[in-house]
Amino acid sequence: MIDIKKIRKDFPQLDKPGYHYLDAAASSLTPRQVLDAVSDYYHNYRANVHRALFKEAVGATEKYEEARKKVAKFINANSLEEIIFTSGATESSNILVRSLEESNVLGAGNIVTTEMEHHGALVPLQQMAKRAKRELKYIPLVGFGLDYNAAERLVTDKTALVSVILASNVTGTVNDVRRIADIARKNGAVVIVDATAAVGHIPVDVSALGADALYFSGHKTMAPTGVGVLWVKHALLEKLEPSSFGGHMISSVSKDSAEWAPLPERFEAGTKNIGGVIGLGAAIDYLEGLGVANIHVHVRALTKYAIEKLEGIPGVRVLAEHDVEKNTGVVSFVCDFAHPHDIAEVLSRDNVAVRPGHHCAQPLHSALGVNATTRASFHIYNTKEDVDALVAALIKAKEVFL
Ligand SMILES: Cc1ncc(COP(=O)(O)O)c(C=O)c1O
Repeated sequence: MIDIKKIRKDFPQLDKPGYHYLDAAASSLTPRQVLDAVSDYYHNYRANVHRALFKEAVGATEKYEEARKKVAKFINANSLEEIIFTSGATESSNILVRSLEESNVLGAGNIVTTEMEHHGALVPLQQMAKRAKRELKYIPLVGFGLDYNAAERLVTDKTALVSVILASNVTGTVNDVRRIADIARKNGAVVIVDATAAVGHIPVDVSALGADALYFSGHKTMAPTGVGVLWVKHALLEKLEPSSFGGHMISSVSKDSAEWAPLPERFEAGTKNIGGVIGLGAAIDYLEGLGVANIHVHVRALTKYAIEKLEGIPGVRVLAEHDVEKNTGVVSFVCDFAHPHDIAEVLSRDNVAVRPGHHCAQPLHSALGVNATTRASFHIYNTKEDVDALVAALIKAKEVFL
């Protein structure tokens, strides 16, 4: 049985009395265990990895590579070579798209994505489509989910690439990625999955999803900012050309040319965020210690409670997946009495931290018929009291605005 009171003590930011952090979808809080691991690195064995032979450098390399093993196990990768450390989901998505383009591994034809994508996934795809003169098609929404019948029609043998978000950072919706991957595979298309809003909230298994590549950011999974993961299936990765060049990713360099290092170093040019990678390893230990499935059980109960409470306030409309089994703990809403930015500002006066805006998902907001939403998002450290504080502050805000 998970003891939330005890868990909350792991998060120093929650020591502030009367503070309600409801912004996990932007960045999750970081537990002491992760802070300690990062601090230990900076205090005791600060050194670069894979190069020097002194004790601290060897220790740093061991911890860095240990983190790779933890990530591989966490997402059920087949080999360590498939795990590339990046600065975050956005860098992962850019590296991947560029490398796919430079390597000529995609067949001719269009790119299919969804109306639900985060700009971090979508804009690199748009750029690729422009450069390569490929048509970019969108699987539309039905309610807060994807239209799978449309996916059947849109993904054809003329499709080279399918990129799909596993969970929406706006509506919380968990998509049936396997279903889309199966359609893509049938048509010979490569499948990319943006798992950024899902990792740490629901178990993510790259092989069960049927993906060819998948990525996420550390800072949404309780790790520090500035670290992320790109996983690429070995069969595809070995065909990819790197798209970022420099030290560490080479095996030899002459005046005229360079040879690439083995996988995965070939894709890790320069010095990576070593402390961040070590922190990511500690974050995975922390999440696995709690059990990701247990985290979701707790979060979905809060999600259900929040949806019911918010929908009980006249003038508030919830734009989130209502089937909480398929929601990663995100409840966005609009109010007919004020703009999301004003709502968020007034809530912050009561120490309720939520995020207003389009959450880097403008096509999704257009599909939902709004420009912006206020978003409350939960993680394991949140409680019903946080939801009650949100609701009380919102009712108070309504009185201010009316
Ligand atoms: C679903 C999704 N994809 C991609 C990103 C981009 O992540 P980052 O800003 O950490 O690169 C985010 C961040 O909000 C996200 O929620």
